[in-house]
Amino acid sequence: QSFVLASKDSEFTVEKANEYIAANKDNVIQTYRLHYHFMAPIGWINDPNGFIYHKGEYHLFYQYNPYSATANKIHWGHAKSKDLVHWEHLPVAMAPDHDYDADGVFSGSSMEKDGKLYVMYTGNSENRQVQCVAVSEDDITFEKVAENPVIEASTLPSNAQPQDFRDPKVIKRDDRYYVVTVSKTTENTGQVLLYQSEDLIKWEFKSILLQGTSAQGIMWECPDVFELDGKDVLILSAIQMPVVGDDYHNIDSVIAFVGTIDWDEGNFQVETMKELDHGMDFYATQTLLDDKGRRVAISWMNMWGRSYPTAELGQGWAGAMTLPRILSLKYNYLVQTPIPEIIDNYNVVTAINDTSIRNSSFIVTGVRGAVGHLELVLEIIDASYFEILVRMGQNEKTFIVYMPATNELILNRTMSGMSISGGEDLSVDQRQVKVPLEDNKLSLEIFLDSSSVEIFANNGTETLTANIYPTEESSDGIQFTVVANEYIADTNQDNV
Ligand code: FRU
Repeated sequence: QSFVLASKDSEFTVEKANEYIAANKDNVIQTYRLHYHFMAPIGWINDPNGFIYHKGEYHLFYQYNPYSATANKIHWGHAKSKDLVHWEHLPVAMAPDHDYDADGVFSGSSMEKDGKLYVMYTGNSENRQVQCVAVSEDDITFEKVAENPVIEASTLPSNAQPQDFRDPKVIKRDDRYYVVTVSKTTENTGQVLLYQSEDLIKWEFKSILLQGTSAQGIMWECPDVFELDGKDVLILSAIQMPVVGDDYHNIDSVIAFVGTIDWDEGNFQVETMKELDHGMDFYATQTLLDDKGRRVAISWMNMWGRSYPTAELGQGWAGAMTLPRILSLKYNYLVQTPIPEIIDNYNVVTAINDTSIRNSSFIVTGVRGAVGHLELVLEIIDASYFEILVRMGQNEKTFIVYMPATNELILNRTMSGMSISGGEDLSVDQRQVKVPLEDNKLSLEIFLDSSSVEIFANNGTETLTANIYPTEESSDGIQFTVVANEYIADTNQDNV
């Protein structure tokens, strides 16, 4: 397939990007395109941006290079949805067309003010990152304000490095706007900075909301702050977070802090800290609050430094978003559950139901499905091993294993299909997390799409998200294996 290239010396504008997308999107190769996850029509995507519920619709913007499946000359793509499941692609919202954002319209967020949609983002230019604002009257075309950049490096505390200062997330509290943003310190650690404003244009530095330690990565990205069940939550993405046990095995990791913000002092008292997802491909989480009062999170379903098979194969695209997930707190830690709309919107075919087995080892074969949703609730008593193989073909399979002795839930993609490499020292083929049984029960919801697996364990207490690229057309087998002394299982498999 050939993609018509925009001429090298052309300026990057929204109009050019939209013309390019319209002319080339039908050439994208469909093999690994996802069925019920958000993707751009063509090209590269990374972080979700500007995620907001506005005038009855969900808007999702994203870091976007329409011209090739690589991270370069980042624009803001844009889509909207009424149900978080069906998305309508809208024209590209912003291009790197000003001096202050010539090397990328980097990540940021949205806010509604006087009925208008404001976006705040990072302008990236050589060795400089500044915060900028654009406004839309019609929710489609965005005008960068004349006051840009609205936050310059001169406002930074003295310990900050100005070339790493980005990802503003705007929030409103009482009648005041705040923005949380991140910078790298001179000690090569991350910190979250708090600014305040009356009008979204004139910003004043307030405080360092939270300072990272050297055990928390060399830089932080994509902060998000919100209230949930009476607590304050701070989610951020940490670059090169050192490994601790089963945690932080990817080169970069998403961390959720729960605690209390003192808004007068402008600081965050951390009570708990936890890795948000234990799979290989999950980053740059952003949230919104919708009309149902739900705090919904969405993340980039990839990881920096990975090989991206769809790009390497010349298929014209790379990158997608996770399922939107509803956040809640349990024992002061974040829990993520898939939005119910995803299940409501698809026909459910029950393949296995109410299986009850005691005192035996068994194998269930003959279940098939490459794209779909599996639900299992298993009562595990004296079992030694439980395994689900998905996307199984002649020579391929993806392993989901539970080890009752250690409570470890394992996702292994060694034999999934195309091999994937990464920037981390550890393997990029296996991740695991401890999931203690609850009343002897393990519940699993597994979402399979053409090139992804998302596992929600014990009602979202733990999740594992990863990309897989099976190569055989017949890789749609599913097989359950139990090795047990005494065992009861209730299984229920649905197809989306
Ligand atoms: C996170 C990130 C952000 C930055 C954007 C650039 O994945 O590195 O910090 O704004 O991606 O595309």
